[in-house]
Amino acid sequence: MAALINPSILSADFVNLERDLQAIATADFAHVDVMDNHFVPNLTLGLPVFERLAKVSPVPLDAHLMIDEPDRWAPAYAEAGAASVTFHAEAATAPVRLARELRRLGARAGVALRPATPVEPFLDLLAEIDMILVMTVEPGFGGQSFIEGTLPKIRRARKAVSESGLDVWIQVDGGISRETIERAADAGANVFVAGSAVYGAQSIPAEIAALRDLAAKHAH
Ligand code: DX5
Ligand code: ZN
Repeated sequence: MAALINPSILSADFVNLERDLQAIATADFAHVDVMDNHFVPNLTLGLPVFERLAKVSPVPLDAHLMIDEPDRWAPAYAEAGAASVTFHAEAATAPVRLARELRRLGARAGVALRPATPVEPFLDLLAEIDMILVMTVEPGFGGQSFIEGTLPKIRRARKAVSESGLDVWIQVDGGISRETIERAADAGANVFVAGSAVYGAQSIPAEIAALRDLAAKHAH
């Protein structure tokens, strides 16, 4: 399975988002962190900005909704053109209904899990989703350090996905860099979000390529 690299524009310059999307044109997706200051203690951007990003991005958008009431808000991100919409398991009232709605609207449906949220309740529901996002930091901020204790959850998710024969992606987000990406890939992740590692690099295209190569060496 190929390794996908999704830089997070949380680490971009918010007055130059179009320029900073162009800077990651060699990436697989642009990861867009939507925060509402309720589900997480931070506030980023919402639908009007996302709609404009979708119009100018050279790569498909991967929306990560760290918001309350995703049942109410997530479908609009699919309608705005997100290729993938990920909502948090802890915030959704009816995750399967929401995932079905996102798919009906043409987006991939992702379910995100905070570090202390178990993956097991979703392992019988893999047919209903396209991606599991295993958060490798507590959501809310870029630049935090990778939580090693999330690796067993990635392994259990990969084992269940492999046994199911379904094409469910496993994404990791938080603290991903050249130092940590191999362990996440080895545990079974195939989609890698990196914010500070990519936007803080001397050469953004070289960093994307380096991360992709390291992950691909450990691909399942
Ligand atoms: C954190 C966000 C991440 C963040 C990752 O809540 O979901 O996408 O941008 O940033 P780094 O890669 O710097 O840990
Ligand atoms: Zn994110």
